[in-house]
Amino acid sequence: MLRVLISDGMEKDAVKKLKDMDLEVVEKHYETDELINEIQNFDILIVRSNTKVKREIIDAACITGRLKLIIRGGVGLDNIDVVYAKTNGIQVKNTPNASSASVAELVIGHMFNLARFIHNSNVTMRQGQWNKKVYEGIEIFNKTLGVIGFGRIGRETANKAAALGMNVVYTDVIGEVKDCKYKYLPMNDLLKISDFISIHVPFSGERAVIGKEEIEIMKDGAFIINCARGGVVDEGALLEALDNNKLGGAAIDVFAEEPAKNSPLCRHDKVSCTPHIGASTKEAQGRIGDEIVEIIFNYMNEGVCLA
Ligand code: 3PG
Repeated sequence: MLRVLISDGMEKDAVKKLKDMDLEVVEKHYETDELINEIQNFDILIVRSNTKVKREIIDAACITGRLKLIIRGGVGLDNIDVVYAKTNGIQVKNTPNASSASVAELVIGHMFNLARFIHNSNVTMRQGQWNKKVYEGIEIFNKTLGVIGFGRIGRETANKAAALGMNVVYTDVIGEVKDCKYKYLPMNDLLKISDFISIHVPFSGERAVIGKEEIEIMKDGAFIINCARGGVVDEGALLEALDNNKLGGAAIDVFAEEPAKNSPLCRHDKVSCTPHIGASTKEAQGRIGDEIVEIIFNYMNEGVCLA
């Protein structure tokens, strides 16, 4: 019987389906030092972003050679050493389609927060304040949204923003997308004209996509939204730009270090923050669960994961 470890939780209907498929399913989160021992007894590992599946875990799995499949329930694979896993004969899959609408909706929510001080009002009204005169915002209607990274989530964000009357421009490392109704701009041109900038790229582990240099190019008073990955925005440069009023505000769902507790950014008046909840909706997790079941079903039948 195949043994499956669900390390960061999974939607309960999908867990039931796996059990009905005659798999032995263990739902438990192990810290790295425990996982090193436990992983040797599993055939399939399912994670979200919390569990880090780096070399030491893969090396440990190779001792018995039992682990054959790692599934990332979600998009970002930065917590998994994919190349090393594959080199060692372990297949790696993610569920890239499931959460685009949820992440895009969070981006839009954060944009409204920033434009209308909703996040600040929630805090100050709980403290008994009535800051009606302070919170004169702006409309997002007719403002320019620059989308950096035009994959599934970037496009979904663009469509929702356009439906709200925003002018959307985009940039992407692969260049202009054929038959796209939005205007492609090189990065620096996008930075110059955007009122809001939303980033939708993976973190390469190297240089931030938005650092001091890029912020300097941006319009004074512009807003940055990062629901992609911690590290794609240089947090030090961002903090400085918020403090010196270069930027109007920032929305952050993802942090260089998570959980982010009481960081200067979380406490900042000009920041609307959430604890990495882009994909945390019933619908996205439902779709992720379904995709995982399908991946395992195919694996059991074909021995390989279909692309
Ligand atoms: C993703 O990469 O899919 C999102 O960042 C969500 O990550 P999570 O599953 O850990 O919430």
